[in-house]
Amino acid sequence: MKKSVLFICLGNICRSPIAEAVFLHAVTERGARDQWRVDSAALGDWHTGRAPDHRAQATMKRHGVPMDCRAHLVKRSDFKEFDYIFGMDEDNISELKDRAPSGSKAQVALLGMHDPEGELIIRDPYYDDGDEGFEKCYQQCLRCCNAFLDSL
Ligand code: 4NP
Repeated sequence: MKKSVLFICLGNICRSPIAEAVFLHAVTERGARDQWRVDSAALGDWHTGRAPDHRAQATMKRHGVPMDCRAHLVKRSDFKEFDYIFGMDEDNISELKDRAPSGSKAQVALLGMHDPEGELIIRDPYYDDGDEGFEKCYQQCLRCCNAFLDSL
C-alpha cells in the first residue's frame, strides 16, 4: 500500500509546488518513488490551471529538481485519501481544519514541524520582488521533507 502526502498552500503556484517537487526528488533519490503518492493543491482558486510562478521554476531549475504542477484546489476527498496533509503556515492549517469532513484520515500539520532548524512557517515569497524568498522556501522544504522521511 502506497503512503501518500499532499502539500497545501494558498495559490498552489509557489510554496506547495516547491514542496511537492522537493519531496518527489527526495523519494526518488532514496529509491522509494513507487512507494509514494505525492501531490500539491490550493486553498484558493485564483490560479487554477496555471504552472508554478516563474521564480519558483527558476529556483528548481537551479537546483536540478524537476517540477511539474498545475494549480488545482484541494478536494473534500483528499482528506480521506491522503495520509499526510502539510500546510505552509497557520492560516493554511486553520483553513484545512475547517474544511476537513468528518471521517478524514489525513494527519494535518505544518510542514515546518519537521524542520531540524525549528523554523515553523515556510516562507511565502509570492509578493517578493526577487527570488531570494523562493530560495529560502526551497531550503526550508528540503530540510523538512528529508527530516519527515527520516522520521518514518
Ligand atoms: P502560494 O503563493 O500560496 O505559495 O502559491 C501565493 C500565490 C498566490 C497568492 C498568494 C500566495 N495570491 O494572493 O494570489
